[in-house]
Amino acid sequence: MDTTTICLDVRDLVKDYPVDGASDHRAVGGVSLTIAEGEMYTLLGPSGCGKSTTLRCVAGLEQPDSGRIELAGVPVVDQGVHVPTERRDIGMVFQSYAIWPHMSVFENVAFPLRVDGRRRTKKEVRRRVEEVLGTVRLADVASRSATQLSGGQQQRLALARALIREPRLLLLDEPLSNLDARLRDQMRVELRDLQRRLNVTALFVTHDQAEALSMSSRIAVMDQGRVVQEGTPREIYQRPATRFVADFVGTANLLDAEVVERAADGWLLRTAAGVVRASCPDGTRVGDQVTMTFRPEDIRMHLSPPGAAATGTTMLAGTVDRVDFFGESVECQVSCGAAVLLVHRHPQAAPQEGDTVHIELAAEGCAVLTDRGARLPAAAPVAKAG
Ligand SMILES: Nc1ncnc2c1ncn2[C@@H]1O[C@H](COP(=O)(O)OP(=O)(O)OP(=O)(O)O)[C@@H](O)[C@H]1O
Ligand SMILES: [Mg+2]
Repeated sequence: MDTTTICLDVRDLVKDYPVDGASDHRAVGGVSLTIAEGEMYTLLGPSGCGKSTTLRCVAGLEQPDSGRIELAGVPVVDQGVHVPTERRDIGMVFQSYAIWPHMSVFENVAFPLRVDGRRRTKKEVRRRVEEVLGTVRLADVASRSATQLSGGQQQRLALARALIREPRLLLLDEPLSNLDARLRDQMRVELRDLQRRLNVTALFVTHDQAEALSMSSRIAVMDQGRVVQEGTPREIYQRPATRFVADFVGTANLLDAEVVERAADGWLLRTAAGVVRASCPDGTRVGDQVTMTFRPEDIRMHLSPPGAAATGTTMLAGTVDRVDFFGESVECQVSCGAAVLLVHRHPQAAPQEGDTVHIELAAEGCAVLTDRGARLPAAAPVAKAG
């Protein structure tokens, strides 16, 4: 990465919180990340994994125990260095909008300009506030009291206030999670468009995988204070590195597997569902115990017996145990050998419970994770996939 384009660099960040005055709880355990100018970079992970603590250290609202943070090449946290929040070139939006109820919409946005110690003419303040209010589509309610806004409008107001000083970095902590589902979907698109249009760099925190996948240039998946995988949304979804990532981001079928053979068209893995063709990483050896994963929407399901499996695919027979209707799709639980697989289908092509079906898996959709799989029970040799 060209060093001139780096907006934020976080190295080996550690933050402990004291618990009952006794032993410390490690909220962030050595997080490193680098964000380029113009990125929408997301910290994604379950509740309590350290996302907000990381963000608050970047904001200067928490003092880390160790580590270094550079904003646009300038250290803001380092040994003996702790630049206060107001001198970091950042804008912040949190889950609670934290707008000032006693001020008008206009005054809420103008406020950061009035207190930053720079002299500006009234005319200049007005011009800038009107411009930002136009950007977030609030120009026509500028004179209203901030409390007379809807949830979505209040969140746009919080965003306008964060943007007014044209910060180098925008910090967003679950900014959409207080909105109802429909508004959240709408704001998601709006926020992403706005971020791209203004080309502002953003560090975004969420536990919502749909938000992360649809909005981010890159995602860091966090677990227990650490980044466990970093990549583009497609990399994270299609090539999860671990069971945790496969399971947390989207729905995954996970099978313990044993590598049994290197065939001409890929590796053969013995699983509880049968023998499956999969793509394996370099260095794989026959006898390895691994975990294999594939997505429910990557499975093709045939209701009548198909011909022989195409090259590089596996065909498995199964029985439909259960069909759940989700509107745009159905989720089927299919028993295959001793495994239960999840398969997603269009509702118009849904099988009935009790149907015998044939499951087709392409080897390239079956990935092997870095986690070692549990040893499978020694079984009678399974009929070869075919
Ligand atoms: N001020 C604090 N004092 C003590 N412990 C804290 C404090 N703030 C956070 N923690 C603990 O640190 C860990 C990380 O918290 P953090 O708020 O960063 O999680 P998070 O990933 O943002 O979770 P959520 O999705 O629920 O917001 C949690 O175990 C939390 O209980
Ligand atoms: Mg949080």
